[in-house]
Amino acid sequence: MKKQETIVSREEIERQYGFMHEIRMLPHRPETYYIVTYGCQMNAHDSEKLAGMLEEMGMTPAPSREESDFVIFNTCCIRDNAERRALGNITWLKEVRKTRPNLMIAVCGCMIQEPGMAEKIMKQYRFVNLAFGTSNLYRFPELMLQALNSMESTVVVDDGEPVPEGLPVRRLRHDAAYLTIMYGCDNFCSYCIVPYVRGRERSRDPGSILKEAEDLLKSGIQEIMLLGQNVNSYGKGLPGNPSFAGLLSDLDRMGIPRIRFMTSHPKDLSDDLIDAMACGKHILPQFHLPVQSGSDRILKLMNRHYTREKYLERVKRLRDAVPGIGLSTDIIVGFPGETEEDFRDTLDLVREVRYDSAFTFIYSPRTGTKAAGFSDQIDPDVSSRRIEELIALQESLQKETMKRFLGQEEEILVEGLSRRSEHEISGKGLHGISVTTGGYNEDIGRIIRCRITGLKNNTLTAERI
Ligand code: SAH
Ligand code: SF4
Ligand code: F3S
Repeated sequence: MKKQETIVSREEIERQYGFMHEIRMLPHRPETYYIVTYGCQMNAHDSEKLAGMLEEMGMTPAPSREESDFVIFNTCCIRDNAERRALGNITWLKEVRKTRPNLMIAVCGCMIQEPGMAEKIMKQYRFVNLAFGTSNLYRFPELMLQALNSMESTVVVDDGEPVPEGLPVRRLRHDAAYLTIMYGCDNFCSYCIVPYVRGRERSRDPGSILKEAEDLLKSGIQEIMLLGQNVNSYGKGLPGNPSFAGLLSDLDRMGIPRIRFMTSHPKDLSDDLIDAMACGKHILPQFHLPVQSGSDRILKLMNRHYTREKYLERVKRLRDAVPGIGLSTDIIVGFPGETEEDFRDTLDLVREVRYDSAFTFIYSPRTGTKAAGFSDQIDPDVSSRRIEELIALQESLQKETMKRFLGQEEEILVEGLSRRSEHEISGKGLHGISVTTGGYNEDIGRIIRCRITGLKNNTLTAERI
């Protein structure tokens, strides 16, 4: 059984609340904060936890980073460009600091958790007041107090793998919420840095998850997005071995209007999960199933533990069980050793599956991962040409696949006014696709019914019913 001592004790969380209240009383603390978030939903949700803690310390959000007393960069390092963007923006703040000497700057998130990165920040970005890793997030109040009371920078990066419960959260949306069900990842796909910066896989106790969901439901939430790097393996190591399918069914019975989740690893996509989706009343008919490559040879080198055939079989089973299901994926091109033939296999797979959307990436070597050491890295020009071809193919197919929605009824959760007009709203439909229709400000946060009438780029247009 997995170590349960990763759960942060109640006393420790209370100690952190003590620091938050101590900071609230400090005369020299910042009044306002601004968080810049990079990366995935995990980071977005971590930023909501940071905001929750900052508000408990008495701070309020600033309208822009230039006007803020305290700027936090919550960084991502999944690809080189994510990292460069974060470092570039941090450097830019150095200029702002020249006119605002009291501006406080913190850097946290996955990039800080990379070996040697904290030291690099200390040396090259000396104006940063505070840097801490993903495993130290729950200790942010303590570290913040330390930074406020010191002229020196505070830098803390632990290897711990905590599961903190009971931290304050300030959610960005009132209608839709992230709910973490597991942290970390054990899969070690050979290209991926996540297991190194987010630690080993650990699942939250089902009781805590259900309690959080119940509180969200009481607060009037319309949609919950369950988060984990590989939600399909939820429960591994917990007493009684709870499964993701079981958790999903429990949440479905609770009556939350819409439930979504990400991300699923194809190797752990069980029949039970597919059945739970088919039987559920509130689990949305959409699935994000990253394939990464259509070539068995590359999948093996990627350490993905499934074949193209197995993947296609899972897709078929999903579509049989949940007809019309919205399918999306992630694909990497230019993985070391990827031949023209391997790439053609990927294009073929995309043609065969017909995804509703695909996130496509050029392979980016990450220090410390296995694939970074592979000798046959691909020429960047070849990768660029491949990704363009892939994107063009996906776009042309997408136009066709989206036609299946024409004339159908949809329910959308309204996210905001559309960019084009004040009398138009947009939101996500049941299948995970953006839909725009007529509406106003007061519709935001509501679920509305409409009928799909057309396609525009990657969105659907609709008439209200
Ligand atoms: N746990 C999820 C998401 C991981 S990160 C999963 O397994 O799908 C999101 C996507 O980034 C991955 O699916 C992969 O397509 C891409 N990615 C990860 N590492 C990468 C790298 N080194 N280079 C390019 N793309 C990468
Ligand atoms: Fe990275 Fe693979 Fe884990 Fe996803 S499953 S986070 S791609 S190691
Ligand atoms: Fe990036 Fe960390 Fe997410 S590396 S993609 S923010 S888990």
